[in-house]
Amino acid sequence: MSSFSIKATAKAVPEKIVTNDDLAKIMDTSDEWISRRTGIKERRVAVSETTTSLCAEVASKLLDKSNVDASQIDFIIVGTMSSDYQTPATAAAVQGIIGANNAIAFDINAACSGFVYGSYTMQSLLNSKPNALGIVIGGEQLSKLINWHDRTTAVLFGDGAGGMLVSNQGSGEVLASNLKTYGDQGKALLAGHMIGDEHFGKVDDQTDQYFHMDGREVFNFATKNVPNSIKEALSEADLDANDVKYFILHQANARIVKNVARKMKVDDQKFPINIDHYGNTAAASEPILLSEMMENGLIAKGDIIVLSGFGGGLTTGTIILRY
Ligand code: ACO
Repeated sequence: MSSFSIKATAKAVPEKIVTNDDLAKIMDTSDEWISRRTGIKERRVAVSETTTSLCAEVASKLLDKSNVDASQIDFIIVGTMSSDYQTPATAAAVQGIIGANNAIAFDINAACSGFVYGSYTMQSLLNSKPNALGIVIGGEQLSKLINWHDRTTAVLFGDGAGGMLVSNQGSGEVLASNLKTYGDQGKALLAGHMIGDEHFGKVDDQTDQYFHMDGREVFNFATKNVPNSIKEALSEADLDANDVKYFILHQANARIVKNVARKMKVDDQKFPINIDHYGNTAAASEPILLSEMMENGLIAKGDIIVLSGFGGGLTTGTIILRY
């Protein structure tokens, strides 16, 4: 198996910060409820930014940080559930903007598991070509999928992008992965419905592209299946939780992260949280957190890290990396 070495990580978030108090001015909610139930204090909301612009900013930063020319990139994958267009894919738009003319580029939609699904796919692609470089990004503008009259979902989500540039040369590697899809439970989390039923011939069709979520069902799904996914991946790699420096989980709810840590009997200090600043940014949450941890020097060469996500599909995905 070829190596999977992270050369650089980066993030890009919109400038506009919306606090819980800001939301309490436009809907029946409170900072107290949101903080206690989710851990979220504020989120970023795109105004002039788009999913494409945020992802392109991440890609440009990755090239700068790793001193790689765009023409050297072979593969670009963007995990997103909020692409600006159905087509072209965000990854294709990014390829065009940064001038990565030799790269093939496509999106993956596995909702909040998108970054892990994208990394898993990138590993296969890197295996297929000698001396190759790839960019994996998770990027979202979930604020466009929010019904601002629905407090049960509006307070949860935010916008942003994060990513990594990876090479199949070097000492980093994928030690194990565990991805699962539960399509029979997909209705627990819907967004982006393209057009209402029986659209033919109608002129006043009410398309509802907004989030519809059974929060309790998704909560139970995550707290049951994420620990199992991580445990199975650890077992495949013949590792113990003690061997892992950090468990970088999808930031959907601080209570979910702490619940997973408790179920795994691991100190929750090993489960970093930044949801207080960004809310749930779906596919972007893990790479934003990873990028911040790299910036803060928390991960050193040789460290083992676990990335684990869950979300729409429903899906789960865990990947264990040696940095
Ligand atoms: N402000 C104030 N009150 C609220 C709000 C709000 N924003 N939202 C709901 N409430 C009320 C409800 O109406 C309910 O009131 P009632 O008791 O009078 O009926 C009460 O608060 C409790 O509501 P619950 O839904 O039972 O609250 P819960 O503790 O389950 O928390 C939450 C809700 C935060 C959504 C939680 O279930 C959760 O985090 N679920 C997981 C969701 C998730 O992870 N989704 C993302 C998946 S990733 C992806 O693919 C995008």
